[in-house]
Amino acid sequence: LTRRVRIRVTFSSDDRNRSYEILIRDRILDELIEGTLPLPNANSFIIVTDANVNKLYGSKLLKGLSGVTKAGLVSFPAGEANKNIETAWKVASELSRLGADRRSVVIALGGGVVGDLAGFVASIYKRGVDYLQIPTTLLAQVDSSIGGKTGVDAPWGKNQLGTFHQPKGVFIDPRTLLTLPPHEILNGVAEIAKCAIVADREMFSQLSKLTKFDSDIPRKFIVRACRIKARIVSEDEKETNLRVVLNYGHTVGHAIESSSNFRLRHGMCVTLGMMAESWIALTMNLLQRTDFEKQFELLRRLYRYSSVNLPILNKETLFKFALTDKKTDSLTVRMSLPREIGKMYTTADGNYRVPVSKEIFDGSIDYLRKALSNG
Ligand code: NAD
Ligand code: GLY
Repeated sequence: LTRRVRIRVTFSSDDRNRSYEILIRDRILDELIEGTLPLPNANSFIIVTDANVNKLYGSKLLKGLSGVTKAGLVSFPAGEANKNIETAWKVASELSRLGADRRSVVIALGGGVVGDLAGFVASIYKRGVDYLQIPTTLLAQVDSSIGGKTGVDAPWGKNQLGTFHQPKGVFIDPRTLLTLPPHEILNGVAEIAKCAIVADREMFSQLSKLTKFDSDIPRKFIVRACRIKARIVSEDEKETNLRVVLNYGHTVGHAIESSSNFRLRHGMCVTLGMMAESWIALTMNLLQRTDFEKQFELLRRLYRYSSVNLPILNKETLFKFALTDKKTDSLTVRMSLPREIGKMYTTADGNYRVPVSKEIFDGSIDYLRKALSNG
């Protein structure tokens, strides 16, 4: 992608200063390293990253920034199992040790784990400092770096502690995908598929036609997914209703992820979650069988390519985790479900959160187990 794409995330007029831009272009990270891309005014920049991304890009960015401004770097061990309050504490302690003050800016350099955790720390450090997102996984480039949801996991469930804290800017360099392991591309494709099912039928059919999913994935998918996410977040930042559509596949998906003790990758859990939740939409007569089958075909392909082992799917454990989901209300599990590919269902009063009975939830897990064991 050689031309620079700019997408704006805008909030209502009283809050215009929180609006920001997503910039997408090959080599934008090099521009930041070389100091040719202007950064906001700050007393210092602290890069927060994980050990893998640090080796690939972190030290280079630190060196580049140090040439022009005061800069520091904090790295933590990679992986979802480290997206927790203990790591957040360690990162905050490092910020303090590096002398970060209220006019310092945090740079989240990495995948969704780094983005969520660094954003969370930025939102509470000295009651909140600014941060920038430089997402380096496909999943983070199409989803998690946009919209300001931050947080960490807890033993009782996914993202149980968190805040809304919008970044000041998002810099996406698709060339960072060249170093990403192939299965991590599949995790990102899962969130692109979600985005398409939720809001873009045309993108879904283009995605279904791809014969391979690798780091050469056409850049138009990144751009379209970012545009959709930016539009939804601009309309409903705090998830009063519409934003919840981005949670499709996540009620069951997060439950599977939590019950695996965060060993299964988020994107793959969302793939499995969408398989279960589309069955729920079909069974509740919200979704037509043809659109169910189209989804199923793409999602099963993603699951097969990932060659993950069939996870243990215990209905009681999964339901217990589903009850900790943030959409749960009065002990009723609620989900965001598709009406057709490209459109989500709303209840008669316009709510995108649809109550789902325990019986149907259980049925979807039985269905998923059967569908996956059939290959
Ligand atoms: P991740 O951050 O763990 O990254 C996956 C792996 O890739 C890690 O091992 C990382 O070190 C490595 N990596 C990152 N960039 C690399 C690169 N360019 N080259 C080589 N290796 C690289 O996982 P993820 O899939 O990016 O993110 C998943 C997380 O995102 C989950 O915690 C999920 O809850 C969160 N999420 C948040 C939102 C949101 O709106 N805030 C939305 C979706 C997902
Ligand atoms: N679950 C993705 C989002 O709302 O940002």
